[in-house]
Amino acid sequence: MIQVEHLTKRYAGFTAVRDISFQVAKGEIVGFLGPNGAGKSTTMRMITGYLPPTSGRASIAGFDIFTESIQARQQLGYLPESTPLYHDMRVDEYLRYRASLKGVPSSKLRERVGDVLDLCNLQEKERAIIGTLSKGQRQRVGIADALVHDPALLILDEPTIGLDPNQIRQVRDLIKNLATRRTVLISTHILPEVEMMCSRVVVIHKGQIRASDTAENLLRNHRSVGSIRVEIQSPPANARETLSKLSGIKEVAEEPVPGGATVFHLRTDAGADLSAEVFRLAQEQHWELLELMRKKPTLEDVFVDLTQGD
Ligand SMILES: Nc1ncnc2c1ncn2[C@@H]1O[C@H](COP(=O)(O)OP(=O)(O)OP(=O)(O)O)[C@@H](O)[C@H]1O
Ligand SMILES: [Mg+2]
Repeated sequence: MIQVEHLTKRYAGFTAVRDISFQVAKGEIVGFLGPNGAGKSTTMRMITGYLPPTSGRASIAGFDIFTESIQARQQLGYLPESTPLYHDMRVDEYLRYRASLKGVPSSKLRERVGDVLDLCNLQEKERAIIGTLSKGQRQRVGIADALVHDPALLILDEPTIGLDPNQIRQVRDLIKNLATRRTVLISTHILPEVEMMCSRVVVIHKGQIRASDTAENLLRNHRSVGSIRVEIQSPPANARETLSKLSGIKEVAEEPVPGGATVFHLRTDAGADLSAEVFRLAQEQHWELLELMRKKPTLEDVFVDLTQGD
């Protein structure tokens, strides 16, 4: 659905996006992640035809976004980073205007606008002047705008920014529902949201792609290690050494806690789940096990590791 080939964007002496290539298949929900300034919005502007690339190309459903821009844009709903709304228009007027710009026939305008007002929970604000809306309501008008011509592909640049937790949940559910028959590329800084919603993640850092995989694969293959927390009542002096000898354990740290117990923090190899082995060892050694807890690496751990430093 989206094909990006060797896209590069240079601003006066500064390369914001450097030779990136990726694809998004029909029906995927892809999370586009990266720290501030990584090049997410620049990439999205190029894919949607709002910014000409310095080199490289992008196509939507097989149509080149610059040479066949009309066909390409028909397939596409785009929520830009800062939504250029007309502040003195009413919500329904604005959406009707936008829909007709995007080629919705006049016989369908009422129905389409009604549908997106419902979807984005804006029924009560239908007649409100856009300039009087709250930030979150305006953001939802932007999403309604992106959806109003019923596009097959949605490109959403931080759709939940400025929304309260209830609205974030609503927008997340909305996007999930939309995705049953659409393709979505979404940038966000809310990583648990990505884990819940996205079938794949593309991580960009300093204008270059750092990873492109499912969240599960990123977590599994990532070199960040898992960890286990083990609390033992009055352990023998060699407990730490005994734990270190288990295969797959990288490091054991020891922390005495009040009441004569000790907490051992075990760092394990990526992907290894040694909690069963640790449990068995504790039984063999007749240790009094108070707690055994596995801490899996999160997408946030992976993100930090991929985008920190250099
Ligand atoms: N018109 C411009 N002229 C010069 N530099 C620009 C311009 N637009 C963007 N940049 C630079 O390009 C880099 C990438 O910006 P971009 O907006 O794509 O980042 P982003 O990943 O969307 O970040 P954020 O998470 O903060 O939205 C930044 O360093 C930014 O300063
Ligand atoms: Mg941005």
